[in-house]
Amino acid sequence: MDPEVMDKVEKIVDKYKRKKSALIGILQDIQAEYNYLPKEALLHLGKSLGVSLIQIYGIATFYKSFSLEPRGKYLINICLGTACHVRGAVRILEKVERSLDIKPGQTTKDSMFTLETVNCLGACALGPLMVVDGEYFGKMTSAKVDKILKTYKNNEKNQNG
Ligand code: FES
Repeated sequence: MDPEVMDKVEKIVDKYKRKKSALIGILQDIQAEYNYLPKEALLHLGKSLGVSLIQIYGIATFYKSFSLEPRGKYLINICLGTACHVRGAVRILEKVERSLDIKPGQTTKDSMFTLETVNCLGACALGPLMVVDGEYFGKMTSAKVDKILKTYKNNEKNQNG
């Protein structure tokens, strides 16, 4: 097992005073660290906290916010609900697919973006709608896609110095 992963999990578990009742919070912190829940981290967590893997996976699969697959730092959601669909959502999706070279459910090689589709985000008047990391981009056109993606890429560069 990777000692670095073990060390990170231990720190998180300590932060929650090793309480089994804090399992959800602990999983949230692990996910914040890796953008998903790596199997190795969960194995170590089970041992360290004395909780069964069944229990851990039960929680990890119950809450939609947890991911057991590697995810990018930024989650892109393209709405394919009816209202967005009739206004050309598929063209937006295709443009994002081409620009990032991934399909829905996949993550870019640099672990920056994960692409997903949803059926109606409840903001139909704004359609077609693209959401990046919780930020809504309404009345989308495929021409705007690259500009928006670039903003996130630049943010990342600036954050990394
Ligand atoms: S159909 Fe896209 S927000 Fe409702």
